[in-house]
Amino acid sequence: KRLILIGPPGSGKGTQSPIIKDDYCLCHLATGDMLRAAVSAKTPLGIKAKEAMDKGELVSDDLVVGIIDEAMKKPSCQKGFILDGFPRTVVQAEKLDEMLKNQGAKVDKVLNFAIDDAILEERITGRWIHPSSGRTYHTKFAPPKTPGVDDVTGEPLIQRKDDTAAVLKSRLEAFHKQTEPVIGYYSQKGIVANLQAEKPPKEVTVEVQKVLSS
Ligand code: AP5
Ligand code: ZN
Repeated sequence: KRLILIGPPGSGKGTQSPIIKDDYCLCHLATGDMLRAAVSAKTPLGIKAKEAMDKGELVSDDLVVGIIDEAMKKPSCQKGFILDGFPRTVVQAEKLDEMLKNQGAKVDKVLNFAIDDAILEERITGRWIHPSSGRTYHTKFAPPKTPGVDDVTGEPLIQRKDDTAAVLKSRLEAFHKQTEPVIGYYSQKGIVANLQAEKPPKEVTVEVQKVLSS
């Protein structure tokens, strides 16, 4: 399966991805995670991306299309993939269609994580992540066994630099202006499934499984 997850910051894309990935043996390509890794490794790509990310603005289409094009060539992505955080503009969606067409493939389903903006600040400001695995926790909704520590490795958890109420405002603005049109783009193709992303994580998982088995 070739799946796209679209939704605003904090809607649960990164929380559901590992579950879908394991259920269907897909690779998980999250442009935000890849960009953050490039920023912390101070690669040329990371240096270019950092300023926009810190402000909660989108990185240029060329940069992200380049990293996705590269990542999709991995052998583990040949059976199918979950794109988490990509495409985020109509230009990116058109580029993705082109890349897939060249391989005789297409997007199967777009999962739209529909949720009210008002819920997102609490989700974003309470989030803690384990950087090397991408595991995500929340102080209130999904607390680790020991505060500040990853359940599996015992390593410390961190907060993302862009997870403040102020930067969230810009991220939401970018979502409504630049990413919402992407949902329209795929709706015309009849492949969008709407999820009620304000429900508890397990209920969202059940909704996802229903969509993918139908
Ligand atoms: P990115 O990393 O993609 O961030 P985002 O889209 O803002 O999304 P988040 O990761 O914040 O949210 P999520 O939906 O994954 O939420 P999560 O599951 O963790 O992008 C970051 C930046 O990179 C962008 O601003 C941009 O600069 C750049 N970028 C990335 N891709 C780009 C592209 N294609 N083009 C241009 N620029 C790009 O959940 C959040 C919290 O809520 C967690 O604590 C979780 O435990 C909790 N939670 C999850 N689900 C539930 C639930 N159902 N109930 C209660 N709590 C829940
Ligand atoms: Zn995420």
